[in-house]
Amino acid sequence: MTNQEQNLMEKIISLSKRRGFIFPSSEIYGGFESGYDFGPLGVELKNNLKKAWWRAMVQVRDDMVGLDAAILMNPKVWEASGHLSAGFADNLVECKKCHKRFKETETKGKCPGCGGDFLPSRKFNLMMKTYIGPIEDETAVTYLRAETCQGIYMNFLNVLNSSRLKIPFGIAQIGKSFRNEITPGNFIFRTREFEQMEMQFFVQPKEADKWYKYWKEERLKWYLALGIKKENIKLQEHKKEELAHYAKAGCDVVYKFPFGWQEIEGIHNRGDWDLSHHAKYSGRDLTYFDPEKKEKYIPYIIETSGGIDRALLTFLIDAYEEISGGRTTTTKTTKEIETVLKLHQDLSPIKIAVLPLVKKEPLVKVAQEIYQDLKRYFMTDYDEAGSIGRRYRRQDEIGTPYAITVDFESLKDKKTTVRDRDTMKQERIAIKKLKEYFHGKFLPKV
Ligand code: GAP
Repeated sequence: MTNQEQNLMEKIISLSKRRGFIFPSSEIYGGFESGYDFGPLGVELKNNLKKAWWRAMVQVRDDMVGLDAAILMNPKVWEASGHLSAGFADNLVECKKCHKRFKETETKGKCPGCGGDFLPSRKFNLMMKTYIGPIEDETAVTYLRAETCQGIYMNFLNVLNSSRLKIPFGIAQIGKSFRNEITPGNFIFRTREFEQMEMQFFVQPKEADKWYKYWKEERLKWYLALGIKKENIKLQEHKKEELAHYAKAGCDVVYKFPFGWQEIEGIHNRGDWDLSHHAKYSGRDLTYFDPEKKEKYIPYIIETSGGIDRALLTFLIDAYEEISGGRTTTTKTTKEIETVLKLHQDLSPIKIAVLPLVKKEPLVKVAQEIYQDLKRYFMTDYDEAGSIGRRYRRQDEIGTPYAITVDFESLKDKKTTVRDRDTMKQERIAIKKLKEYFHGKFLPKV
């Protein structure tokens, strides 16, 4: 990372903490193993991200349903999936001198910390082990799920039998996953506890290539529609030797992070690997019968698998802008640097800020009435502390798309000024029309 890139990461981490997006986990005890908690604004952003994904993947589609499967599953699931074998293990190396451990692929043969030599590498399985019930013996072992998609395979028959879905169709799920990563890092980019948004699309084997292509394009479009800059995101096809143990073809959506181009979502043609393995290990018939074509087959699966935390970091970085010299009247004179988080309005944690021009009656009373009304429909913030310029800046920094100012004129004409975060344009809108105005602004665009 260059100094500038390092700086950008530091700024994102500092903004996240200062404004309540992301905090280190168990901080008063010195933190815990690169874990993070999502604060008041972070949880809103995360929920908005999930809503946007669910809307695109489930709500507006006829060929998709949702699921929320258990985190703890029968350990046989992980045997059948290959997660307990070498396929889900990293090569771990330990420094002879300082005893720090690393993923072998992330070193160049020498310890990145002290330059020491490594002991011979060994396999390290990433599954998080736990015990069910009071006796901690081998019969009680189970695992925290390492990917949400296994819960989808477990319910393939249940969903098929309880719905009228016919192939091709998909099942989508959002939930926590756990991996005992050797080297978590880069803030929330790689952690041991994270959330995934995964979709498994069941198709006729001969149609798998077509659907694989379709989902690659759809997923890239989703990030672009939510405002990721075109030059910072792309698809990267896997070479044969890079393919995961279950995949016939694979591709990553990669983003240009300050620490390099990195995967934010994986799209795979998983063939019949999952259903045929689960059929074999469970003894259940997982074939599909197409009543129209009278054919029986194990469906192929096209998977889209993204990380919520990783996507959240992506959107934060991409939206972060600094404007030197300032945009607001107060900063123009002080030449301060102003931060604007240009988040897509669907993702912004706070949608509207209500600001009385000064903390004086009757402005405060009018502003409070507007706030109490709007907050029933939109995440709305009320702020009366400090100069109006400073309050605009506070909202810009957290990505609030609209700010309403109640001024002395409002008392006469019963109108307020609505300021747009990005264009800085101001519109006078009648107080009684505000609700309707914002319902229009927040209508889905697609
Ligand atoms: N079901 C396939 C699967 O889980 P993966 O490439 O291992 O594939 C998919 O993970 C996505 O999950 C990644 O693209 C990333 O966004 C997220 N992810 C995986 N491991 C992660 C970790 N340790 N921390 C944060 N996100 C992670």
